[in-house]
Amino acid sequence: MPLDIVIGAQWGDEGKGRVVDLMSENSDIVTRYNGGDNAGHTVTVGEKIYKLHVIPSGIIHPNTIGVLGNGMVLNPQTLVEEMRMLQEVSIFVTPERLWISDAVQLITPAHRLLDGAQESNLGKVKIGTTGRGIGPAYVDKAARRGLRAGEILDPESFSSRVLAHFVEANHLLTDWYHQPGFDVDDKVKEYLDFAKQLRPFIRRIGPLVQTALNEGKTILAEGAQGTLLDLEQGTYPFVTSSCTTSAGVFSGLGLGVQPIRKVVGVTKAFQTRVGTGPFPTELDGEMANFLRGSGNNPWDEYGTTTGRPRRVGWLDLMLLKYAHEVNNFSEVFLTKLDVLSGLANIPVCVAYQRDGKIIHSLDFSGDARLLAQCTPIYETLPGWQENLRGYRNWQDLPEKAKGYVQFIEKQTSLPVQNISVGPERLERITRS
Ligand code: GDP
Ligand code: IMO
Ligand code: MG
Repeated sequence: MPLDIVIGAQWGDEGKGRVVDLMSENSDIVTRYNGGDNAGHTVTVGEKIYKLHVIPSGIIHPNTIGVLGNGMVLNPQTLVEEMRMLQEVSIFVTPERLWISDAVQLITPAHRLLDGAQESNLGKVKIGTTGRGIGPAYVDKAARRGLRAGEILDPESFSSRVLAHFVEANHLLTDWYHQPGFDVDDKVKEYLDFAKQLRPFIRRIGPLVQTALNEGKTILAEGAQGTLLDLEQGTYPFVTSSCTTSAGVFSGLGLGVQPIRKVVGVTKAFQTRVGTGPFPTELDGEMANFLRGSGNNPWDEYGTTTGRPRRVGWLDLMLLKYAHEVNNFSEVFLTKLDVLSGLANIPVCVAYQRDGKIIHSLDFSGDARLLAQCTPIYETLPGWQENLRGYRNWQDLPEKAKGYVQFIEKQTSLPVQNISVGPERLERITRS
């Protein structure tokens, strides 16, 4: 009963979509267990680029079942639009191929408006959210007033609950945040139209996934966001509102704790972040432009969900070691090594200086204020000039590129089992 987990080891956008796509080939069920359509997971197969926000990336393989676990927040409209987008490329998302937990919390347009209002209220100290209503939807869940997918199956009571939610949110928006309100009746009608399309997909997920595991099926859990955006272990308060780490899988799927085959930590060969918050190795100027790219390539560092330019910097091994500590990775999947080609030297953060002292491991639970006081200490590795995109074997890689990978392994005590050297499915090196 193998259960595999893919986790972002940084601040999101590490390339989880492409890793999940590769691992899905040998998985029966691919499941999301946290977050919502704040995620943007890219899979590139030949000339085709799929950008998925809600449906697990495994859906591209014809025989996998996609699951949306109870730990998620789900916007029915986004899901319906994503299903349509997939249909256009002949991927048919039927109720046999997509199971939605009846305990998924629903995001509404009112949550999106509240997300925007709260951000503008925060002004300069805003989080820089994706504006998808994630925080407000999780707030309603924790406050025990959230709408759950299972309620859609009882149309009468659901429509009165939706109406009450919109009325309350409208008050909050206008009276508290002094934002323009919306036409409640129109919004309710539109929302119910999208929500009812979810009906055939809604199920109780925990027992279904457990049965599949008992039957020896392979389950792959697709983490969204990244470790440093975890609500509890991330750089609080500049985080998302869900559990993004490996520990979230069981509660986010309604499963009891049980053995895991492997936890794959996905990290880029450098560091990126979208939104506000501390970023010790952040770069600006020419070097930042080099890492970010011009925006002309689909893989350049511009948000998949929002299109915002991502902040970029050198790889931070202090944070990667911290991510290992809170996830217990079995191995690392290193992405975007190709982007570093052409640099004479590559600095990598191996320690921090804080309060005049040098520290080699992070003794904190993600407090953003503490990270903001850290200055990186770098070790500089020699770069390589070769374009890596054509490489498929470890033995053939330029020695300096191998040295970079081995340095990460030595510092983290983790094997780098896979390396990707381009966005396309086949552009990768698997080490034996
Ligand atoms: P996710 O949110 O973790 O799934 O990552 P995103 O899809 O948001 O961002 C990763 C971006 O990098 C996407 O555009 C991918 O196609 C691209 N990508 C993934 N792996 C590689 C790689 O090894 N090299 C290059 N050049 N691009 C990659
Ligand atoms: P994937 O799955 C990168 C960031 C936002 C913001 C913070 C809170 O593609 O890696 P939210 O909308 O969740 O309330 O925003 O989290 N964020 C992401 N950054 N990749 C993501 O997802 C993200 N999802 C949220 O930019 O800083
Ligand atoms: Mg992304």
